Order: sequence, then structure tokens, then C-alpha cells
Amino acid sequence: MPATSLDTIVSLCKRRGFVFPSSSVYGGLGSTWDYGPLGVELKNNVKRAWWRSVVHERDDMEGLDAAILMNRLVWKYSGHEATFSDPMTDCRACKARPRADHLFAAQKGRDPKGLPEINAAIEAKELVCPKCGSKDLTPARPFNLMFRTSVGPVDSGDDSGLVYMRPETAQGIFVNFGNVLDTMRRKLPFGIAQVGKAFRNEITPGNFTFRTREFEQMEIEYFVRPGEDEAAHEAWIAERTNWYLELGMRKENLRVREQEKHELAHYAKRCVDLEYRFPMGWSELEGIANRTDFDLKAHSRSAENPDAVGELKYFDQGQKKHLVPYVIEPSAGADRATLAFLCDAYEDALVKEPPAEETTKLRELVESFAKSVGRREGMAADVKQRLVTTAESIAAGLPGTLPQLIGLMEDSEAATIEVMKKVRGVGEKIAEEHTRTVLHLHPRLAPLTVAVFPLKRNDARLVEMARGLKRDLQRSGVRAVYDDTGAIGKLYRRQDEIGTPWCVTVDFQSLEDQTVTVRDRDSMQQERLKAAELAPTIAGRLA
Ligand code: GAP
Repeated sequence: MPATSLDTIVSLCKRRGFVFPSSSVYGGLGSTWDYGPLGVELKNNVKRAWWRSVVHERDDMEGLDAAILMNRLVWKYSGHEATFSDPMTDCRACKARPRADHLFAAQKGRDPKGLPEINAAIEAKELVCPKCGSKDLTPARPFNLMFRTSVGPVDSGDDSGLVYMRPETAQGIFVNFGNVLDTMRRKLPFGIAQVGKAFRNEITPGNFTFRTREFEQMEIEYFVRPGEDEAAHEAWIAERTNWYLELGMRKENLRVREQEKHELAHYAKRCVDLEYRFPMGWSELEGIANRTDFDLKAHSRSAENPDAVGELKYFDQGQKKHLVPYVIEPSAGADRATLAFLCDAYEDALVKEPPAEETTKLRELVESFAKSVGRREGMAADVKQRLVTTAESIAAGLPGTLPQLIGLMEDSEAATIEVMKKVRGVGEKIAEEHTRTVLHLHPRLAPLTVAVFPLKRNDARLVEMARGLKRDLQRSGVRAVYDDTGAIGKLYRRQDEIGTPWCVTVDFQSLEDQTVTVRDRDSMQQERLKAAELAPTIAGRLA
């Protein structure tokens, strides 16, 4: 069963060292996260797979790593100072400050067409505060999302040292267009790719790493002749969709959505979102926009921009004239892609049936949990309904529904019901013995590729051979670890839970014939391979 709630993923991430709440020793900082030992490997692998696909495997792309801090004028002429904002309203009754467009969408069932429509709804008392239910809301006003800081040792009190933490990596590419063109002697069409941090003072961050104030983008600006932009746009939509699918994302969880006219950013002629079916619903994974010649013109010297030092344009040898290229921009989030791959890979599976008396005891407890939820006062009706329906269907389907019970045991709302403690007391032990959690990550994405175990940790010959194999794998560029801290079955389960595709066991036969067993994470099948062929075989499978 795949992960049905983000809580399940958050819990796995904390338990196994993928992602931790940031600054937790001081109580944390809302919606900021630190990638732990396994998370950093996974996210690095996502970024590496992206770079390989869009830079190294193509002949028409260059890479770039621009500075985060840029001249403030970049953000003036890109339009971000004036327009990079979200509409916010204040509740006069409880002082909550929700995003007005989200309020409109949630309460009227469609996106607003702009600020005037939101404000008309507020004035007509059609929108209510999501926190206290009051209709006494202030008119919505734009709130700029760029974080401000200042350069230099003195804060002069005015804006003379003002710089912004970049809200997108894209502008670093546009202002380097001329540098890359001149130094790499590129002909159109060609693109520039960049991975890096971006910062937005989001009003409503949330859903774990899905929307945060500090995140990483993987962006491409692909420059084409005007007129060739629409075909290039289609080609990039197909290319980027395939990238997710080739890395194992399930087709039914990925879709292409055309943005409506009123959703388009100020620079875009057309934009298509690649959306993933996250546990909280379909949400944007990547945007692929046609930015026309907006940005290159905006940063070129003109009557509107007397501050630019020159023009960002291209000399067309064939036509013997200058032109301003159009731009197709596939813009992905490294954190969102990482989260999507995690959700997609997650599975809780029953591996063997527990004894009947254990199942009966657990069923009774889950039924009693459902009754307790039904009696609970003060719980939101939709949460109550969801918990009761889930618990009743789990109770009716046990032991086959043990994997679903794992999700319920990790649900933060279910945890507020007293009897859940008893369900967990019994359920966790049964689940531990009879189910396994697996991350079916693509081998190129998995944080670890191979784990090597000796059958017995107190046999020096087995330990030496296992450690030697692990070193061979590491020298071949394969991420490998050695582990002897438990029985083989337990070690398999630990590695399944973090997505390690292959586990290698060195046993007594290995000492005689120099072969080892290689156990496949997904099929759980074992094959015997010659020890000398292990490293090249695994390296070959990753290529
Ligand atoms: N240069 C275009 C641009 O920045 P965007 O749709 O605002 O477009 C592109 O952002 C991608 O960056 C999104 O599809 C998403 O994956 C990621 N992203 C944007 N805001 C984010 C946030 N607050 N937290 C995490 N990822 C975010």
C-alpha cells in the first residue's frame, strides 16, 4: 500500500534520518527543514540525475552557478519588486492573516480572477476567516515575497545597501546570457541550466517540504528564435515528463495541466504545470513556461531601462541581423521532486499472516478506536468521518489491512484519541513482525546502493571478506555500507525501509567458492554472483 498521508512520510523521514525539523534544539523554526544523512544523499541524487539528463546527455546545454545575492536592479527590471507578491487579508476579529486568493478558492470553489474580484467578495461578506469564522476581513493587499537584507558593514537605515535573497534562480541565468553566449560561442537554440537555493517569504508554507521559505530550484532557460518557441515548448514538456517516468514515478501519479490565462505570471505567454498526486492532492511539481523575450529585453538598455550597461541579444549570422531570443523555462523544485519520489516509492506490505488470536485482539482494539472517535467532541467533522471510515475498513480487513493500520498509527490526528496508545502497543509489534516498509526508489536515486553483511559478525573471515567487498564497491563509485549489527532478516528490513536496492550477504559458501548472495529489494529474490564480479555488475546496473 502506498503512503496515504504525509504524516507517514514525515515520520519515516524523521525516524530514518532523511529530514529533520530545523533548529530543533531551540524548538524549531516553522516550515524549515534540514536534510539528514540519507536525505542529503537522496536530494543530491535527484539533482545529479537532473543535471545528467539536461546538461551532460545533451549537446545544446551549458551549466551555470550564479550568486544568490545580485544587484537590486536585477529585481527592479525583472518586475519582481513591483509584482512578486501574494494577496493577503487580515481578520479584524482574531488577527489571523490568511492568503486571500487561497481563501477565495477554498470558499468559492474556483480561483479568483484577480485582486478586484477577491476584494468584491470580501466587501460582500462572502469570505470568512478560516480560523474564527468572522467576516470582518480587511481588503486584500499585495505582500512582496522577497526577503530583504543589506550588504556592507553599516546599516545606513535607508535602502542604499538593500539586496534581496533571490526568489528564483532564473534571473541569474538571464543576466549571464551574454557571458555564456560569448565564452561558449553558442548558436541558437541552446539552453543554460542551474541548480540553487531560492528564498520566498511564503505567507502559507506547509505540507512538509512541499512549500517552504528556503528551497532549491533546478531551472533551465532555453533560448530559441522567435517563432520556434511553441515547438520547443512542446518538446520540453515531453522531455521533462519522461524524466520523472524514467526515474520510476508512476504514470497515474503524474499529469500535465495547462495554466489558465489569469494564473499566468507577468512574463509568461503560456505555462504548463507538471503536477504530482501528493497525499494532500494534485499539486505543482514543475512549471514549464514560455517567457517570450520578456527577460532579455527587460535587462537590456532602453528608454524603460536606462540602468543596464548594454543589450542582451543574439547576432544571427544567416540573416545578418540582431534578434532577441524567446525563452522556454522548465523550472523544477529539487525539494518537491525529492518529496514526490519519496511518496511514490513508499509501500507498506504484508509479508506473512499473524496468528489468528493476535489478529482478533487487534481487530477489537481498532473497533474500539473507531467508537472512541465517534464519541469524541470538538473534533472537526471531516477529520472524524475520515478516521472512523478508515478504522472501520481496517478492522474489517485485518490482517490484510495491517499496512493501512501502520498509516493510521502514524496519523497525528488519530494520536489524539486515548485508545490509539493501546492500538499502537499491540499493532506496532505485529506490524514489525509481519509487514515490511519498502521505498521502491530507482537505484540511481536511492541514498545507499548496496549494503554488505557477513552472515556471522564473530567470524573474522566473513567480516574481512564483507568489508573488502564494500571497499571494492566504494572504489567503483557505488555508494555502499557495511553492517553487522543484527540478524540478516532485520538488516534486510532496515535497508528496505530506506530504499537500498541490493543487499549482499557473505556466508560460509562464499569462503569456499568466492560467491555471494545478492538480494533484490523489490522482488526479495536472491541470486549468487561471483564476488569479483559484484562491483562491475552493480556499477553497470546504475549506468
Ligand atoms: N522561475 C520560475 C519560477 O520560479 P515557480 O513556479 O514560482 O516558477 C518553480 O517555481 C518551481 O520551484 C515550482 O514548480 C516548485 O517545484 C518550486 N517551488 C516554488 N516555490 C517553492 C516553495 N516555496 N517551496 C518549495 N518549492 C518551491
